[in-house]
Amino acid sequence: MNELAISYDTSIPNNVGLSDDRRLLKALQKWHPNYLSWWQSMGPEGFQDSMVYLRTAVGVDPKGWAKFDYVRMPDYRWGILLAPRDENRTIPFGNHLGEPVWQDIPGEYRSMLRRLVVIQGDTEPASVEQQRFLGATAPSLYDLRNLFQVNVEEARHLWAMVYLLQKYFGRDGREESEDLLVRRSGDEDKPRMLGAFNESTPDWLSFFMFTYFTDRDGKMQLESLAQSGFDPLARTTRFMLTEEAHHMFVGESGVSRVIQRTCEAMNAAGISDPNDIENIRALGVVDLPTLQKKANLHYALSLDLFGSEISTNAANAFSAGIKGRYHETKIDDDHRLLDSTYPVLKMVDGKPTLVDEPALTAINMRLRDDYTADADKGLGRWNKVIKKLGVEFSFTLPNVAFHRAIGEFANIQASPAGTIIDEATWVANYDKWLPSSDDNLFITSLMKPCHEVGQYANWIAAPKVPINSQPGDFEFVRIAA
Ligand SMILES: [Fe+2]
Ligand SMILES: [Fe+2]
Repeated sequence: MNELAISYDTSIPNNVGLSDDRRLLKALQKWHPNYLSWWQSMGPEGFQDSMVYLRTAVGVDPKGWAKFDYVRMPDYRWGILLAPRDENRTIPFGNHLGEPVWQDIPGEYRSMLRRLVVIQGDTEPASVEQQRFLGATAPSLYDLRNLFQVNVEEARHLWAMVYLLQKYFGRDGREESEDLLVRRSGDEDKPRMLGAFNESTPDWLSFFMFTYFTDRDGKMQLESLAQSGFDPLARTTRFMLTEEAHHMFVGESGVSRVIQRTCEAMNAAGISDPNDIENIRALGVVDLPTLQKKANLHYALSLDLFGSEISTNAANAFSAGIKGRYHETKIDDDHRLLDSTYPVLKMVDGKPTLVDEPALTAINMRLRDDYTADADKGLGRWNKVIKKLGVEFSFTLPNVAFHRAIGEFANIQASPAGTIIDEATWVANYDKWLPSSDDNLFITSLMKPCHEVGQYANWIAAPKVPINSQPGDFEFVRIAA
């Protein structure tokens, strides 16, 4: 079959030959109604009947894989799409380096793979749940569309993982697939698996920060799974990455538009001091220090998703050829990491200190470093917007020791600059470094819907980059009465 084309001969669009695999098709068709009732009850609240201008994947050719049209979200064609197979692909790292990739799961790695697929799968519906109330306060139809685009694609990512579970893991896989629809973000009894995915996303600043920082963790995880020796996982995640890029664009451009609007409003009002919070807020825009605090929070929460700096699980997954490193094939080393070391930031004598550790057990640390470098680039672009508008302020990422709940720094307190501090200092400065209840109240006060065509809430600038050549005054969502 032509893997670049998607077949629509079953209820589930796919390029995996679903109509020839009756057992799998049946299992997925059994799961489908439960999925739809999950979407109806946990997906975007209040907009299920609206017509949304969404892109739907219609192929996996990078040159033209999506088409745009109005669609009711429950009618979105969630499909199973894998990047094309490379017949000559070999395992790019670990103990099986150079061997042909696996088309089936090697028995000895089954439970490890299952765990990785389930954890990845769990984050996808979790973010939809976290964002389900945001439609009511969208600052424009353009932003509303972007939110829903992210939501339907995260839900498709759930399909991507459920496909792997049902195709390769038999009965266990079917049970895990059902459980993915049972856990709920933030639920005390049946929470989602990872911390950041149980936090709430109460407002649009949180949404933009989440898509910037937390979806970027997703990108790094998918990039390392895209290296996997288990080829179906590599191909699935590779296609997911094409969608993921838009999510981070939504975050980066969202924050950038807030910054732009704030600086423009400050200039118009003749306010040059970015710390003149009261007068800036009186303009109905978000002061830059509050944005920095939001960034501090979301960056720290996202760092926790990388797990402990030193991890034998991560080492085992690497040696097994299951989960590689970011840009594995571009790294110039032996891809086995038998004798090499990697500098890991650890607490030594009460101070964060770089210590050389075996590179194999420092896989998480390396991925987190790659993440930090990637995340930092966007801050540079935000700072350019501020500079261009003549305001004296710049964003910085806090130190990795700041506000952590997992790893080396879970039990200490550090300032954003990375100085270890005592509990009293932490408490005294908390509201300076992280969003205070006052900050949150102020942000909430701005969250009024702006659902008129071509209009934008006062606190955010109109976009510069159109969606599918449609300008900012296009009717991106036709809201059902
Ligand atoms: Fe995703
Ligand atoms: Fe995403």
